[in-house]
Amino acid sequence: MPMARKLYIKTYGCQMNVYDSERMAEALEGYEQTETPDDADMILLNTCHIREKAAEKVYSELGRYKGLKAEKPDLKIGVAGCVAQAEGEEIMRRQPMVDLVVGPQSYHRLPELEAKARTGKKALDTEFPEEDKFERLKNRPKAKRGPTAFLTVQEGCDKFCAFCVVPYTRGAEVSRPVDQILTEARDLVERGVREITLLGQNVNAYHGAGTDGEWSLARLIWALNDVDGLERIRFTTSHPNDMTDDLYDAHGRCEKLMPYLHLPVQAGSDKILKRMNRSHTAESYLRCIEKLRAARPDILISGDFIVGFPEETEEDFQATLDLIREVRYGTAYSFKYSTRPGTPAAERDQVEESVKTDRLYRLQALLSEQQQEIQRAMVGKQVSVLFEREGRLPGQMVGKSEYLHAVHVADAGAAIGDLVRVEVIDSSTNSLAAKLV
Ligand code: 5AD
Ligand code: SF4
Repeated sequence: MPMARKLYIKTYGCQMNVYDSERMAEALEGYEQTETPDDADMILLNTCHIREKAAEKVYSELGRYKGLKAEKPDLKIGVAGCVAQAEGEEIMRRQPMVDLVVGPQSYHRLPELEAKARTGKKALDTEFPEEDKFERLKNRPKAKRGPTAFLTVQEGCDKFCAFCVVPYTRGAEVSRPVDQILTEARDLVERGVREITLLGQNVNAYHGAGTDGEWSLARLIWALNDVDGLERIRFTTSHPNDMTDDLYDAHGRCEKLMPYLHLPVQAGSDKILKRMNRSHTAESYLRCIEKLRAARPDILISGDFIVGFPEETEEDFQATLDLIREVRYGTAYSFKYSTRPGTPAAERDQVEESVKTDRLYRLQALLSEQQQEIQRAMVGKQVSVLFEREGRLPGQMVGKSEYLHAVHVADAGAAIGDLVRVEVIDSSTNSLAAKLV
């Protein structure tokens, strides 16, 4: 057998990129993954466009490989993901070191692109092809897996929030068919997976082809609930407008669906929500939270916030703080608004940087207060933990609770993949400590 070439993938951004990187590694048969770029025959940057100066970061990362490329002319360098989609041709022009560019919708064509790059030609594919990349990628060699996995069920977004690049880089909303997803889920379980997180930019708008017409996300979750050996189901990211009654109901009754929901609101002022083109109000968002808690009182809510969106006044910002006080978030992600070329909000009058910084500081202080309060209230309670890795101390294990808290257990006497009941004994900034019961 010829010696395997080595592949180094560096993944940026969201969980879907993590999933995509796994698929790219599988697609490149004949390669095995390495943890360092130094011995790689191919370096792939799987990039993210959601944060500021995304392209600049890619160029500076590429710059670091100059020396390696000079030493090793056979080394191929590729850029994948959303920056590749948005600026692929520009990257090839500006950085001659790059041999290959592939967008998120065409990575199943990687083997052809790689072969082309090996002949010394430049290989670029940023199309939105007709064929199904997921179909092309199944039946690849299957390695044993850890206890948790991501599974993409829906991709793309038709919402066009005024700040967001996703509809441009990931394209229109597409749902994978139910049988494809169930097959992949069963396969993951056979390989050791006990918890699956269903991924989609707009996952609760899922409407894939099922046995009898289109299935909702809730129906898909109920089908996964019947997969033996699968213990936990999560999904992310949801949009408030696509919350449906069957999904609330699943949160109330489906035993494998975990009591956690990431439901971004972005802002609490209706004026700003309108300018963001979010198509929901603060009130309609609060009603979603109410229904969730009616179905599942202990559900932990997480969110995303943007401060300093164009035309946000102090009063608008106060409305965001009010909404946060009303919801009580278990965890949250918050950002200063920053412009993305090609999105509508980029053209508008911008809020001053110092104002954004100040608002972000105040917002995060409130969010972290809430997080700590909710975590402290867990002390003395029992939770279940799925162990994902060994801790730093001997005998210590680390995993996630049903609420997605990181939980450390000393002298756990357990293995990775074990699901155990524990009692929470302490809370620190970003994790809980617990003991076996
Ligand atoms: N500026 C700041 N934050 C943004 N997000 C998306 N686009 C921008 C932007 N231009 C945030 C949103 C989204 C999360 C993934 O990233 O809060 O929900
Ligand atoms: Fe971006 Fe809005 Fe779509 Fe989320 S719903 S991916 S923020 S456009």
